[in-house]
Amino acid sequence: MRMALAITWNRWSTRAANGGWSLSQATMPRVAPGEVLIKVHAVGVNPPDWYLREGYKMLPPEWQPQVSFPLIPGTDVSGVIAAVADDVTHFRVGDDVYAMVRFPSGLAGDSRAYAEYVSAPASEVAVKPAGIDHAHAAAAPMSLLTAWQFLVELGHDVQNPLQPNQHQPVPLKDKTVVVNGAAGGVGHFALQIAKRQGARVIAVASGEHAQLLRDLGADQFIDYTKTAAEDIVRDVDLVVDAVGGPKAGRFLRTLKRGGALFPIFPLGFSGADEAAKLGVTVSSTQVRSSGQQLAQLAPLLDAGTIRAVIDSSYPLADARRAHERAAGGHIRGKIVLTVV
Ligand SMILES: NC(=O)c1ccc[n+]([C@@H]2O[C@H](COP(=O)([O-])OP(=O)(O)OC[C@H]3O[C@@H](n4cnc5c(N)ncnc54)[C@H](OP(=O)(O)O)[C@@H]3O)[C@@H](O)[C@H]2O)c1
Repeated sequence: MRMALAITWNRWSTRAANGGWSLSQATMPRVAPGEVLIKVHAVGVNPPDWYLREGYKMLPPEWQPQVSFPLIPGTDVSGVIAAVADDVTHFRVGDDVYAMVRFPSGLAGDSRAYAEYVSAPASEVAVKPAGIDHAHAAAAPMSLLTAWQFLVELGHDVQNPLQPNQHQPVPLKDKTVVVNGAAGGVGHFALQIAKRQGARVIAVASGEHAQLLRDLGADQFIDYTKTAAEDIVRDVDLVVDAVGGPKAGRFLRTLKRGGALFPIFPLGFSGADEAAKLGVTVSSTQVRSSGQQLAQLAPLLDAGTIRAVIDSSYPLADARRAHERAAGGHIRGKIVLTVV
């Protein structure tokens, strides 16, 4: 049986020397019809990686998927095609590609990206932007697709698990948009996409990120450690709250009637009545894998119109340290694991 290295996490051995983490040989992924095998060069780290590690305990019990341990975390990769199924005609061995693998379909542990090799449906894969390296390409998929699907194009008609109606992006040209959590993975892409779509952007983050966010195009910066954005901002068209959660409702008062609040993490939001009174739409969605959208976004990454910012990079074997870095918060862009 062919084997390849992968990071596994075993919650039952968290008291072991490496806290449950191990780099060990795992069975080489099989390539099913419609799939490709990717030799992974870099992996992007995302919040669902640690949600999975914790068995999604942040979700209400009725939503928690059945997670079996040990598991291989991760969804976002950049690498080189190592094999293609017979029915896949648009990729060849040797192509440089990037992907968000099986999300949300594999969120209970079937994406398995913290590894030397990962299999992926060809429909979720796109040719890597040639002008950026594998680390920057791996930094993009989940965060960039999230920002794109919220702000520009949903890209599918799968029922929204978070609300009865489908999420709908709103026009951004000549609008004023607040991006809260603007320095994080989703936030720094949301800021750049809103600018590209013609909006004026107010970025909210901690003060250390001011220069970066201005460099990425922010027209105004608010340091939330000194000033609460909701106390000074009024009459904006859209708030993208990339922090979200129970406190997202504080932004309702910053919006004009007819405006919209997009909590990227919508669980715990409780301002529906106030939103209705204020005439504000509150809408969210769950990001979905899309090779077609990654192909559409590749020229923007290639041209530097949208930049993936790397907070820090660790060898795959140090995935535990990468997760410790994430737990420390104040992430500036993306954390990446390098495989070769
Ligand atoms: N709906 C979906 O499909 C979807 C997809 C992807 C992610 N998400 C969710 O979206 C959230 C963000 O994900 P991410 O990958 O962007 O996380 P991230 O990279 O960890 O970014 C979070 C950012 O928020 C900032 N922040 C923390 N507290 C803040 C506050 N009180 N006010 C303003 N900024 C604050 C942090 O930086 P500073 O504090 O230093 O400014 C950090 O840069 C997560 O909850 C994730 O689960 C949802």
